[in-house]
Amino acid sequence: MNYDQMFQEALDGLHADGSYRYFADLERRAGRFPKAFHHGLGQEVTVWCSNDYLGMGQNKAVLDAMHAALDETGAGAGGTRNISGTNHYHVELEKELAALHGKEAALLFNSGYLSNWVTLGTIAGRLKECVVLSDALNHASMIEGIRHSRAEKQIFRHNDVEDLERRLQALPADVPKIIAFESVYSMDGDIAPIEAFCDLADRYGAMTYLDEVHAVGMYGEQGGGIAEKLGLSHRLTIIEGTLGKGFGVVGGYIAASAPLCDFVRSFGSGFIFSTALPPMIAAGALASVRYLRDNAAEREGQQHAVAHLRAALDAKSIPHVGNPSHIVPVMVGDAQLCRELSDALLRRFGHYIQPINYPTVPRGTERLRITPGPLHDDGMIDELVEALDTLWREYQLRRTNGL
Ligand SMILES: Cc1ncc(COP(=O)(O)O)c(C=O)c1O
Repeated sequence: MNYDQMFQEALDGLHADGSYRYFADLERRAGRFPKAFHHGLGQEVTVWCSNDYLGMGQNKAVLDAMHAALDETGAGAGGTRNISGTNHYHVELEKELAALHGKEAALLFNSGYLSNWVTLGTIAGRLKECVVLSDALNHASMIEGIRHSRAEKQIFRHNDVEDLERRLQALPADVPKIIAFESVYSMDGDIAPIEAFCDLADRYGAMTYLDEVHAVGMYGEQGGGIAEKLGLSHRLTIIEGTLGKGFGVVGGYIAASAPLCDFVRSFGSGFIFSTALPPMIAAGALASVRYLRDNAAEREGQQHAVAHLRAALDAKSIPHVGNPSHIVPVMVGDAQLCRELSDALLRRFGHYIQPINYPTVPRGTERLRITPGPLHDDGMIDELVEALDTLWREYQLRRTNGL
């Protein structure tokens, strides 16, 4: 058996269809973000595709809390949550997250991916005859969690209230149901009809599971996400979030009722049997959540940067998807060109935007996904759009020439 050859053949398939992933070898330097040192190029570049949406990864309150907790508690948690790994910072952070979302309790996980996988896997797997109604564009972590549960799954059309209702109507009234969806969808930046889904959940006796990974920290008066912004947090059964994007650290969580969190804590294998997050991570995340509950400057700065970028793109007629969020997808529609544009932006102009190709998005919708934040100033944005404009004209020329 030549195992390496089997692996290589699978990888060759990815190369052949253009979906092989190349990593940019970056060195983030605290205090310089959104600049980072690109080891492949040997120079500093401006990063436009980071999910450290608000620059909290270098926020002073966060770094101070992490330095202090590292010196105070040491490097790791020392165990699973059950066996000596629960540190007071975990407990404080869970309380803070529950308060952020107006829920009784919260439960921490080592990533947002795990929080989706474990929570959906555990609840849908353990409630007898549970049916999960899952939005067609849900993230891989939800899809895998539902698959792992072995519960019946129905995929409803993306953000489609009527399709969801039709499916709910057809289900027996007495089986447990979960409607699983996201608030801000990460690739198109569109937002779910949360209120209408909650109305359906009430009408048909379903639970609601909302992934707010691309919204926490950024929306709502305290950074509680789109549900907070719309005054709907109390209507959702479970709000799930990450500590690795808007909050700039790492980790994931759910916020829900006390019995629900206790249920996942008690039955979720991926929660129980894994070493807890290092206390310094919990301390940093706690500082970040507290900071963003009290300060709106980062959110306002992000909204300003998004508006400035959209206006500058419009002025140059560069096509981007209109949506109500901070995610600005510039549509290219061709995998090869998307990669070329991204390479040229990097090599000729020092702007780093990872190309987003299939299978992350459907073929024909390849894009440059830009996430401007409060640390991208107007000058940086103007430079980026100038560079894009230069390349865009070259790109259109190439298209007209059929190249
Ligand atoms: C919608 C959504 N949910 C969950 C996750 C996973 O979160 P994390 O990166 O904290 O594992 C992601 C990650 O990109 C995501 O886009």
